[in-house]
Amino acid sequence: MNLKVRSFEDYKETYKKSVERPEEFWAGIAEEFKWRKKWSKVLSWDFEGPSVKWFEGGKLNITENCLDRHIQELGDKPAIIWEPNDPNESYRILSYKQLLFNVEQFANVLRNNGIKKGDRVCIYLPMVPELAIAVLACARIGAIHSVVFGGFSAQSIADRINDAQCNLVITADGSFRGTKVIELKDIVDDALGQCKSVEKVIVLTRTRTPVSMIKGRDVWWEDEIKKVETQGNPHVPAEEMDAEDMLFILYTSGSTGSPKGVVHTCGGYMVYTGYTFANTFQYEQGDVYFCTADIGWITGHSYIVYGPLSQGATSLMFEGIPTFPNAGRLWDIVEKHKVNIVYTAPTAIRSLMGAGDEYVDGKDFSTIKTLGSVGEPINEEAWKWFDEKVGKGQAPIVDTYWQTETGGFIISPIAGITPTVPSYAMFPQPGIQLALMDENGKEIEGNDVSGNLCVKFPWPGMLRTTYGDHERCKKTYFSTYKNMYFTGDGCLRDKDGYYRITGRVDDVLNVSGHRIGTAEVEDAINRHSDVIESAVVGYPHTIKGQGIYAFVVAGEHLKDADLMRGDINKTVSRIIGAIAKPDKIQFVKGLPKTRSGKIMRRILRKIAEGDTSNLGDITTLLDPEVVEEIKKGAQEMK
Ligand code: WT7
Repeated sequence: MNLKVRSFEDYKETYKKSVERPEEFWAGIAEEFKWRKKWSKVLSWDFEGPSVKWFEGGKLNITENCLDRHIQELGDKPAIIWEPNDPNESYRILSYKQLLFNVEQFANVLRNNGIKKGDRVCIYLPMVPELAIAVLACARIGAIHSVVFGGFSAQSIADRINDAQCNLVITADGSFRGTKVIELKDIVDDALGQCKSVEKVIVLTRTRTPVSMIKGRDVWWEDEIKKVETQGNPHVPAEEMDAEDMLFILYTSGSTGSPKGVVHTCGGYMVYTGYTFANTFQYEQGDVYFCTADIGWITGHSYIVYGPLSQGATSLMFEGIPTFPNAGRLWDIVEKHKVNIVYTAPTAIRSLMGAGDEYVDGKDFSTIKTLGSVGEPINEEAWKWFDEKVGKGQAPIVDTYWQTETGGFIISPIAGITPTVPSYAMFPQPGIQLALMDENGKEIEGNDVSGNLCVKFPWPGMLRTTYGDHERCKKTYFSTYKNMYFTGDGCLRDKDGYYRITGRVDDVLNVSGHRIGTAEVEDAINRHSDVIESAVVGYPHTIKGQGIYAFVVAGEHLKDADLMRGDINKTVSRIIGAIAKPDKIQFVKGLPKTRSGKIMRRILRKIAEGDTSNLGDITTLLDPEVVEEIKKGAQEMK
């Protein structure tokens, strides 16, 4: 990428141009990529629809940009460095040449199993190179991938498969997480009882956990590769895709209903993730870049796979968890692979910070140039620890604010170029036109103000729709404010014009950087046969950022509260996944409701935070008495 911003002045000029002449600006960036056929129109848009099209008429394949075009110059350069869960197992390096070879091989496997352009493929794999290979192989033949994070339950997988009508699932026998083995294939088998659209399952060997292989449906990854070898490893030319053809679906939680399938398309997403990766981190050829996220989340899609690879970068993939075998693991990886850029989450920083400085002091961090944070607002204490202990006060920290829906960073410093302030995401990325809105739907001008964060002009990486339900996309993101994309976050623009994200303003929780809808958790809790109703809110949690607090009205069988808490947790794990288990469950006789039956979460939030001094007006409650009872119960829980 030649068009990286080079100085603060350059950022300001670039930003100005990107706002005044957005089409010219983005066309310039897009020209740095390989197109089979150039676009005829840079942008057409209408946020009412919404309908957003970038690089219309353009033809490309993102894998040609991530792989083929690097082979001549960077063929032997590591594309992926893979670090296993167990540090004693050998690591793997895949050069660009090898990665292309593996992607083509697996693209052949997909074809042999009946997959063609436009088919949806569900991927439920551990963090092994084959996950990146599977993703890229789908993109190579124009199949639409829907990656499901390995921590989700059978029910969540089934819901996602059914929503997208996937034809094929790619999974593994199991996955390693620290000392645990998770039986992925078993979980998939449970899910598939409910999924009629799935014809084939490809199973990778990873943990050698015994699995049941269903005749006619299940095949081994390794056997399928052998078949392709006997076919002579036919070269798979990349499918020619339209810029606006779907690239992938990724499910994410909202304030209501089941998770939505956010849809990203080929051209704009490629341009946006490639540019923001190179520019924000100021990636230079030869740098080793380590993002600790899982490819099951958008961070992994955009900034482990597509963004870095389109830029010919070396992307380090880590299978395990930051605390195994001990809280120094990430730093051991940095030393071992001479990492230059570390991109992680505040929750990880806080947990490692809490483990003690003995795990970080004395490690060789001389290779580190840049640090990054993502997923939730980073508190000042964690920012400073990261800066001092890991960056040695020398490495700029980019606090990147973005969402599954935005495809890539929308507010972030640019490493070493724009100033940074702890807990601030600082500046809009080039091309991003922000607006802070008040409760009357008016834009708030000037500095030293707060409001609801919106974007008022399209950018190439934005979502195009929610799969199978365009109305839902319109309602969720484009209806709160006219002609605006609404993020769902609150934001401060301080006296200097610096942006600071203050957190969600809707009923969405952010637990360890994972987005969880309160309605989803309530729905899961309410499925327990002894639960009458429940209300879930977030509360400040020292490691997770937010914890999940559930107020539960139980039926007449409630005898042993702790046993029932265990049962509820098990129910939530079964329906959603362990990440959504409540941290606290308080049994109550009733919930505070208005006369029209609406639960007053504001009151519950205050109680969960432990701040009961000022609950505001409770006279509109149907039964103000319940508040006293809940307050008392909350005190007793502590
Ligand atoms: C929500 C999006 C984007 C990748 C990870 C999460 C919160 C994300 C930051 C940040 C403050 C942040 C927002 C946003 N968020 N990054 N740097 N500072 N808040 O993706 O699951 O789509 O969640 O995460 O609340 O809306 P996601």
